[in-house]
Amino acid sequence: MNAETARQFFRKTYGSEPDTIGSAPGRVNLIGEHTDYNGGQVLPLAIDRRTYVAMKRRSDDGKSRIISDTATEGAEFDARSVERSGQWWDYVTGVFAFAEEKSALPQVDAAVTSNLPTGSGLSSSAALEMATAITLAQLAGDRRSLKELALLAWRVETQFVGVSCGVMDQFASALGEKGHALHLWCDTLATEQVRMREAVLIFDTNSPRSLRGSQFNVRQRECQEALELLRQRNPELSNLAAATPGEVRAAHLPSNLEKRALHVTEETRRVESLVAALKETGEIDGDLLYQSHESLRTLYECSTPELDWFVDEARKIRGVRGARLTGAGWGGCAIAVGELEALSGAQSSLISSYKSTFGLDARTWLTNAEAGAKVETSAK
Ligand code: GLA
Repeated sequence: MNAETARQFFRKTYGSEPDTIGSAPGRVNLIGEHTDYNGGQVLPLAIDRRTYVAMKRRSDDGKSRIISDTATEGAEFDARSVERSGQWWDYVTGVFAFAEEKSALPQVDAAVTSNLPTGSGLSSSAALEMATAITLAQLAGDRRSLKELALLAWRVETQFVGVSCGVMDQFASALGEKGHALHLWCDTLATEQVRMREAVLIFDTNSPRSLRGSQFNVRQRECQEALELLRQRNPELSNLAAATPGEVRAAHLPSNLEKRALHVTEETRRVESLVAALKETGEIDGDLLYQSHESLRTLYECSTPELDWFVDEARKIRGVRGARLTGAGWGGCAIAVGELEALSGAQSSLISSYKSTFGLDARTWLTNAEAGAKVETSAK
């Protein structure tokens, strides 16, 4: 799967060559979970699975077309006046909805190809938004920076598709760099690239994730409530992650709010510690990953027996430095970080003992930190 696959799919569908092909990857988060929408720090990396968008300008008949090799249905839409449909192409058409100069937007034919699994918590939606944003920007001569495009993609997700989330996924997909994790301060949107050489094993628990959306929203509300209560003592507090764990304990919040706030304030500090150690030693401090998981399990209460099982099993494998759930939780994926050979050798036995424990078919992928969104080819 690469830009050539996208070009061929475009040609097969529309009978001509695309003008531009852009792509963007999925992500995993190394550490800093549920901190982004609380103004804290995160450390995601772009993975080696990507979504490609091939696009061509059409004559201006008020009609654009979109199709994907992973969906049965495509759509027609007017690039200058799009409406939310509740379908997969909202991630694409939403990018047109937030274009700077709508009247100058071209009508397009677009084709999507991807080897990034959807619905596993690897941010396939952010990848589709970013791949569309970078391709359309190239086609339309829009010179916005990758960071600005990441913010645009985030607006598509939150304001057009209507999923309330933080900025991490779109920023990771946009700004990832090969061999580096992305250290992002979600309050100021400052970023730095942190070199990391370890491999990552992604383990998709393939377990039901029915609570994911609803519980995610409950947690966001709880964090907001905790912040409001903390502000009664400290009106200057800019966000929840800016509080210290000591301040949280001293505030005697209701038990559930105290747990959420402790997780957020400690987790953002774990990101800082992990980055500092990584810069100094070149190695991931695996204990911090385990601590993060434990905190997500007991304080944020977003783990599952399947995710906990994986972390316990990974801990037993020689050459694994650390493991934790990644992304929102309540199912989805976990990661283990360490030596490539150890991770690679452990895959099949993890899958088979997972199957005999839970009766579920896990999927695994090995990745290093890969490049973020890019223009693959362009006739312009
Ligand atoms: C989801 C959201 C992200 C982030 C994580 C939890 O993946 O899309 O913005 O909040 O959950 O860290």
